[in-house]
Amino acid sequence: MNEKLKWVPNQLNRVEQETALLPYFTLEQVEKVGQFQRTYKQFEKTPLQHLNSLASFIGVEKILVKDESYRYGLNAFKVLGGVYAIAQYVANVLQKNIEELSFEQLKSPQIKERIGDLTFISTTDGNHGRGVAWAARELGFHARIYMPAGSADERLQHIKNEGAYAEITTMNYDDTVRFTSQLAQENGWVLIQDTMWDGYEEIPLWIMQGYTTLVHEIVEDLQQAPTHVFLQAGVGSFAGAVVAFLQQFYEQEMTFVLVEPHVANCYYESFKAGTPQFVTVGGEMQTIMAGLACGEPNPQAWQLLKTYTKISISCHEEMAAIGMRILGNPLDTDERIIAGESGAAPFGCFYEIMTNEQYKELKHTLQLDEHARVLFINTEGDTDKENYRQIVWHGKYANE
Ligand SMILES: Cc1ncc(COP(=O)(O)O)c(C=O)c1O
Repeated sequence: MNEKLKWVPNQLNRVEQETALLPYFTLEQVEKVGQFQRTYKQFEKTPLQHLNSLASFIGVEKILVKDESYRYGLNAFKVLGGVYAIAQYVANVLQKNIEELSFEQLKSPQIKERIGDLTFISTTDGNHGRGVAWAARELGFHARIYMPAGSADERLQHIKNEGAYAEITTMNYDDTVRFTSQLAQENGWVLIQDTMWDGYEEIPLWIMQGYTTLVHEIVEDLQQAPTHVFLQAGVGSFAGAVVAFLQQFYEQEMTFVLVEPHVANCYYESFKAGTPQFVTVGGEMQTIMAGLACGEPNPQAWQLLKTYTKISISCHEEMAAIGMRILGNPLDTDERIIAGESGAAPFGCFYEIMTNEQYKELKHTLQLDEHARVLFINTEGDTDKENYRQIVWHGKYANE
């Protein structure tokens, strides 16, 4: 557990090729998603930062960071999924295509009259639930949000501020998901969960599609495909969606690297097991990378990620901390990026690979050299401000 990084190559991609889910992530589908999301009046594209000074300092061609801390003013990317899934759900109830609907229309009294009073329920480490609560409030519905034991009070408060009922349970993430699923069934509430299981497939797929707006924005801003994409994984829905779109959009080989915390490394353990069926990990999963504290892969995301991942990394808490410190303290004219724990972990791992002799084999395997154009997605800002200060100001989780 004390190792900074553990890594395993994916041996499965040569065994099975996944195609069944790819049609959900074509340019056409992704444009449809973005078209709805942009009907929100204050919608703004988030910045893609080119950290040129850092790239030459580290020895790669480009370091690109898509900064999702600016998304909808909510400090994380997650809302993209929640808002799209809720809109799709309502569109289905109305028997309309999402293309025919806008944010304003969904808010209208006429629509409320037709569909009645809906309550959306979800489990979250913070960001997803805040997005669901925000979307429900904006569209005039109710939300009930449940958080695993150990969740930060600040994150709970953010959700309550969106007008939702919210509480921290005594269970871990995966058990809280089972609990909310049962509550939804018992009370007729609509479960908006960012992972799927048998019989609960449609909504999680909409959530994954919702995330693709951010990758679409990235490709709009790029002249050349990245050679490497480092992606953080909790249940893997985010990484799966990004990979599925980028792979189809560029139709060329890119090196996808997955990053998870040691205590919740279900993808790493699955790649290590090397069998087509994933494995799960359990326990309390206490990590500062709260968004990544999931022990059970989303089976749909696993289908995609087992096909396209090149290397799976499990990392120490220190990797998130060093990533936060470097991105928050830029070189020369590079932009400052306020990255939270789950947002910074992939960059922290990359930095370690590039600078620690111990990982030179990994650096070589990944071909991280002066021709590498490396893409990161800062999936959250300082969503736990107290911890951000402890890490960035006071040097908590020092990289020794
Ligand atoms: C900030 C942040 N980054 C990454 C993730 C990982 O997303 P997924 O669970 O889809 O893998 C999450 C999930 O909540 C998150 O909140």
